[in-house]
Amino acid sequence: ATAEDGLQDLHGLHVVVSAGPTREYLDPVRFISNPSSGKMGFAVAARARARGARVTLVSGPVNLEVPPGVQFVPVESALEMRDAMLAASESADMVVMTAAVADYRAARPAGEKQAKGSEALTVELTPNPDILAELGSNKGERVLVGFAMETHAGVERAAHKARRKNADFILLNYPTREGTGFGGDDNEVTLVRASGESEVWPRLRKTEVAERLLSEALTLHKYTRS
Ligand code: CTP
Ligand code: CA
Repeated sequence: ATAEDGLQDLHGLHVVVSAGPTREYLDPVRFISNPSSGKMGFAVAARARARGARVTLVSGPVNLEVPPGVQFVPVESALEMRDAMLAASESADMVVMTAAVADYRAARPAGEKQAKGSEALTVELTPNPDILAELGSNKGERVLVGFAMETHAGVERAAHKARRKNADFILLNYPTREGTGFGGDDNEVTLVRASGESEVWPRLRKTEVAERLLSEALTLHKYTRS
C-alpha cells in the first residue's frame, strides 16, 4: 500500500528531515559548499507528509519547491543547521539526516570581502559539529537515519558510522553511478545497520527510496514503542 491509496500510516508522528548542502562562509561573498541538490531530503519530506506525518524540513540552499504542508526551516551554515535540527528534533519521532553537512568551516571568517593578493593563500578550517552524532547522543525513542556517500569499503564504513553516531541505519550510496547521488532523480542505495547487516536496494526513484526508508523507520518505531 502507498500514500496514493490514502495510507496515513505516519499519522500522529513528527518527522524531521535535513536536506541540501551547507555553506561555510570565508568572507561575506565567498563560501565552501558541495553539489547536494536536496532532492533526496525533499522527497522524504514530501512522502512523509503524504503519509500523514507532521513534517519539519531543515534545508541548506537548494532550488526546489517546498512540499505542501511541510514546515520549512531554511538555513545556510552547519552551525545554523545544527541549531534548527536540535530544536525541531525535541518533539520528533523520526529524524532523517540527508543533508551534506560541510565537515569544516573557516576558523576565522572575515567580516569584509577579502582582496586578492599575489601570494599563495592558506585558510584555516575548523571542524563542524556532527549533527547526527549529537542527535544520537540524546536519541531517546526517536528513530535516527543517516546517509553516507562512500567511494570504497562502503558497508564497513557506513556500519561504523551508524555505530559511532548511534543511528538506527544508514543509506549508503556511491558518487560514481550516473543519475544517482548528487543531483540525479534516482538513487541506488544499500541499507546498512549498526550491526553491519546490509540490504542492497535496486536502483529506484528518490521518491521510492523515501517510501522504503519511511517504512523501515516506521517498523523500528513500532518496535521501540511496543
Ligand atoms: N553528518 C552530520 N553532521 C556532520 C557531518 C555529517 O549530521 N557534521 C551526517 C550526514 O548528514 C549523514 C551522516 O552524518 O547523514 C554521514 O555523513 P558523512 O559525511 O558520510 O559522515 P562523516 O562522519 O562526516 O564522515 P566522512 O569523514 O566520511 O565525511
Ligand atoms: Ca562528511
